[in-house]
Amino acid sequence: MKRFHKGILQTAIAALSITALSGLTLSAHAQQQKIKIGFMLPYTGTFASLGNAIENGFRLYVSEQGGKLNGREVEYVKVDDESDPSKATDNVNKLIKRDNVDVLVGSVHSGVAMAMAKVAKDTGTLLIVPNAGADAVTGPMCAPNIFRSSFSNWQPGYAMGEVVAKKGHKKVVTITWKYAAGDESVRGFKEGLEKSGGTVVKELSLPFPGVEFQSLLTEIAAAKPDAVYTFFAGGGAVKFVKDYAAAGLKKTIPLYGAGFLTDGTLEAQGADAADLLTTLHYADSLGTPRDNAFRLAYAKTYKLQPDVYAVQGYDAAQMLGIGSNAVKGDLSKRAELIAAIEKAKIDSPRGPFTLSKSHNPIQDIYLRQVSGKENKLVGIASKALADPSRGCRM
Ligand code: BEZ
Repeated sequence: MKRFHKGILQTAIAALSITALSGLTLSAHAQQQKIKIGFMLPYTGTFASLGNAIENGFRLYVSEQGGKLNGREVEYVKVDDESDPSKATDNVNKLIKRDNVDVLVGSVHSGVAMAMAKVAKDTGTLLIVPNAGADAVTGPMCAPNIFRSSFSNWQPGYAMGEVVAKKGHKKVVTITWKYAAGDESVRGFKEGLEKSGGTVVKELSLPFPGVEFQSLLTEIAAAKPDAVYTFFAGGGAVKFVKDYAAAGLKKTIPLYGAGFLTDGTLEAQGADAADLLTTLHYADSLGTPRDNAFRLAYAKTYKLQPDVYAVQGYDAAQMLGIGSNAVKGDLSKRAELIAAIEKAKIDSPRGPFTLSKSHNPIQDIYLRQVSGKENKLVGIASKALADPSRGCRM
């Protein structure tokens, strides 16, 4: 009887050791596996420089961690989304099904990001949006596995509406590209302006990514508004600022914009951008130790000055790093990973920020003015501004 018990005990111990050992091997194996990041960003077209800056920022944070997130090396797969929403669903499915990425990072263009959000929501893939401000992503499309490290289109627009009203401008014309980002930026601006007593008298637009501004500039001159508000970015912003000045409007009708108008563009815009006032969640001269260290590291690594897009890419990597640390690199522990990012205070070069319930940054929106090659800080236009996240049920 005794011998029988001893036999069972030995077998049980042996079985337990095998299970424990294989468990150990498994987790060691999981640790050795690389984290696969799928960058879905524009590398061609009017937003190409924005996509590159986001990737640079992301890679910088990872390389500051020794090229690893919680012990796991990071591998990148890239797709050029061409800022084309009609190709977005195919592109994102390639990253998920063909490349088996663990995390999606993208994109810049709101229409592309909405297609990505739909697929991420349907498949449960973790998505970090490092730019596109589409209100819907943290509105009706919000989901536990979708985070944004940037802004909602409403945020800089709303803040600028308040600034323009405070300056005493009553009649304002808006001009932008006709797509989600332009429409939503103008809607946010209108909300801020009209609540404070101003009116938008005319809304002008042209299809994305068009740059034939002449007839619209003629309409602005004829309308003689007190001010103009605009949303353009990348190559389109460069051309708009130059055309606005060349048409002689800069001297007569003050131009204001969401900060993308002058971010990452000043080298090309030159004197035509001088003194322009814009609102954004970053400025070139914050002067904080955190931002100074980031700017120095970025300049050393890439021989370029960083812009808001680089900051958003850097912070997307920080957010993933926070989640990854909380689950010791095991990204399958989804609930714990999400909870860690949700409660984090992200130590961003823009200043620390937290996330709203819909996973959008709650952040200061700065008023900036162009001086030389910099968007200099003038002050805080809107303190700890949270997107209203209308329609988000989470
Ligand atoms: C957007 O499409 O959401 C966007 C593009 C460029 C700059 C800012 C926003």
